[in-house]
Amino acid sequence: MQAPEGTKDYLPDEAGYWEQFKRIAADIFGRCGYVTIDTPLFEQTELFVRGIGEATDVVAKEMFQAISGENLKRLVAGEAIKSKSHLSLRPEGTAGVVRAVVQHDLVPQGAPPVKLMYAGPMFRAERPQKGRLRQFNQIGVECLGADAPSVDAEAIIMLMRFFEALGIPAAVTRLLMNSMGCDDCRPAYREQVRAYILGHASELCEECTRRAQTNPLRAFDCKNPACVAVMAEAPLISDHLCDACKGHHEQVESYLDAAGVPFVRAPRLVRGLDYYTRTVFEVQVTEGMGSQNAIGGGGRYDKLAEELGGRPTPGLGFALGFERCVLALQAAGFSFPAAQSLDLFLACVDASVRKEAFHLLQACRDSGLVADMDHQGRSLKSQFKLADKLDAPMVLILGPEEMDKGLVKLRHMGTHAEAAIALDGLYAVLGGLEYENSETLIESLLAKIFG
Ligand code: HAM
Repeated sequence: MQAPEGTKDYLPDEAGYWEQFKRIAADIFGRCGYVTIDTPLFEQTELFVRGIGEATDVVAKEMFQAISGENLKRLVAGEAIKSKSHLSLRPEGTAGVVRAVVQHDLVPQGAPPVKLMYAGPMFRAERPQKGRLRQFNQIGVECLGADAPSVDAEAIIMLMRFFEALGIPAAVTRLLMNSMGCDDCRPAYREQVRAYILGHASELCEECTRRAQTNPLRAFDCKNPACVAVMAEAPLISDHLCDACKGHHEQVESYLDAAGVPFVRAPRLVRGLDYYTRTVFEVQVTEGMGSQNAIGGGGRYDKLAEELGGRPTPGLGFALGFERCVLALQAAGFSFPAAQSLDLFLACVDASVRKEAFHLLQACRDSGLVADMDHQGRSLKSQFKLADKLDAPMVLILGPEEMDKGLVKLRHMGTHAEAAIALDGLYAVLGGLEYENSETLIESLLAKIFG
């Protein structure tokens, strides 16, 4: 059996790095006031249809339906199921988070904005390729209840700081910025794009011509070279923004300038989700990524809460893709840190000392050390090999002769220094170790023993 197409197993080194990745994000985003929220992995399909937009690829082509056994039976029997029973795996996190904000009234009238972050798997039935999975991990943030341009800039700066903290070289990242306008300026612009597409229908692919009816701005996202060439001459939103949207965008840009965050104006950036108003942005990696080079993206969605039945609540957020960040890091020479690393390995000269070693092992663990021993009766030589493989800086050696004298040996693997220490004394040292983190613990143990 193999994992389903477009999914992958996160083996311990990568799974361990995902945990570290989330910790780095929680640290940087937490300093900007973001707190964690967790919403279900599946929601009513209607939420995504209304939130993300019926005509987007994500909703029209890429959603995985989730059907309970009972409802599946009904469907197979040709019976209808209630619309509330139509469930889909979440293709992204924003719709669910905004649904939760509305449902639990997290931004009551006059309240300060709420800043939420989340991490977890998203599901899109896309054609799998490098950097494009059907189940992938995102970390996202959503700030609801504030429409100030400084909120947009704060989130973008925070995102760029995160990529920098991960180690993705700034020289290969590119921040693209655009504005999608608002309900005042976008409808007229959309009509212009529609008229432009219809005027060039013979040069465009079938899907783009169809998009003229449903969602003309999507044609900017078409990868077909003929469509790209035609859309390169299409009217640009930047020339059709109302004064309020223009002012908002200029302010976001000026905050970024002041923070020294470089960006590129991308007047054809439309993003694949329909909820955006005003600011949209995307971060791309320019080397080693192939066509799936967007490592994060987001924007403002001032109408989404209303669309989902809430009171008017402006919002802004972004999400970044874990697997794509890993690809970007690997292109820059990164390899995962080993998931397993030991502070101390206990080696037994023969089976007669195993019981004492097992007892000592528990005392080591209780003191805070990451410790292990062999459970398969390996030779002393292969126990040392194992200790080496696990990168243990210290090995405790228990042998029958030393044990008879109440002693054990401690070997420092880096310097090969060895000391015979009294077992009683070692138990006392372990019991009295002050635990801050495992590094200081090892240091203090070595200092106590080797002086
Ligand atoms: P998105 O651009 O669709 O935005 O996804 C964000 C990031 O998720 C992408 O930049 C990419 O790194 C990663 N990603 C997307 N699809 C895949 C895939 N099939 N395989 C691997 N990685 C993928 C959103 O999802 C919005 N909810 C962002 C947002 C939050 N906007 C406002 N708030």
